[in-house]
Amino acid sequence: MKLDVVFTPAGLTSQEVQGRTVFVIDILRATTTMCAALHHGARALIPVAATEEALRLAQTIGSADVLLAGERQAVRIPGFHLGNSPLEMTEAAVRGKTLVVTTSNGTQALLACQGAAAVYPACAANLSLAAEKVREALDTGRRPLVVCAGRAGGFSLDDAYTAGRLVAAVQGDTRPRTGLNDAAIAALDLVRRYGDDWERPLRRSRAGRELLRLGFGDDIAAASRMDAYPVLPHFHERRVTLAAVPV
Ligand code: MLT
Repeated sequence: MKLDVVFTPAGLTSQEVQGRTVFVIDILRATTTMCAALHHGARALIPVAATEEALRLAQTIGSADVLLAGERQAVRIPGFHLGNSPLEMTEAAVRGKTLVVTTSNGTQALLACQGAAAVYPACAANLSLAAEKVREALDTGRRPLVVCAGRAGGFSLDDAYTAGRLVAAVQGDTRPRTGLNDAAIAALDLVRRYGDDWERPLRRSRAGRELLRLGFGDDIAAASRMDAYPVLPHFHERRVTLAAVPV
């Protein structure tokens, strides 16, 4: 069985994701923020591509329990209740709420993978659970694919390093070697280069430098904490939830 990584969802066709178990990584910050929100009791997140679509959908649902969340250029969208920081997703802010979310790269990556058999947002904060799910997919022939959200359709160091950590965690010390595609091998090489200190490659990445410049250094530290929000979100029928709950 083979474990594949792609460094960007750009160019990913529906045939390539069809029938596969997909893990989407946008560690800075969309998938980390989703884990934080669900860990703190959010009912569901609904990823959408555009701001107008988020506004329309929130209006259609028309409930006081719906919050708008998201960013452009890392900054909260004007008029939205929340931005895209995992640290904003406190229990007081999100418990029992449904969040309509739009971010620059993360939500777009999730939407690009909609045709897959299953889609799981992954990051450092849920690494062990994600790795377990990848192993399960390998063992049951469900062809796991790790999709880095990347940045503006290109490579991003933060997501690629995280993909490497996921591949390393899947392989462990004892598991028989899994076949890897070239991107998975390159992602593992990044782990060898940067070692275990998750924050280093994140701060070094373009997204990390941008967040530091804007004063979001605490978000990078939060995103670097392995298994900090131990939940496995599942993107299914347009919603990201922990379980199939009606919204
Ligand atoms: C994204 O979706 O591009 C990121 O989550 C952006 C951000 O962290 O602000």
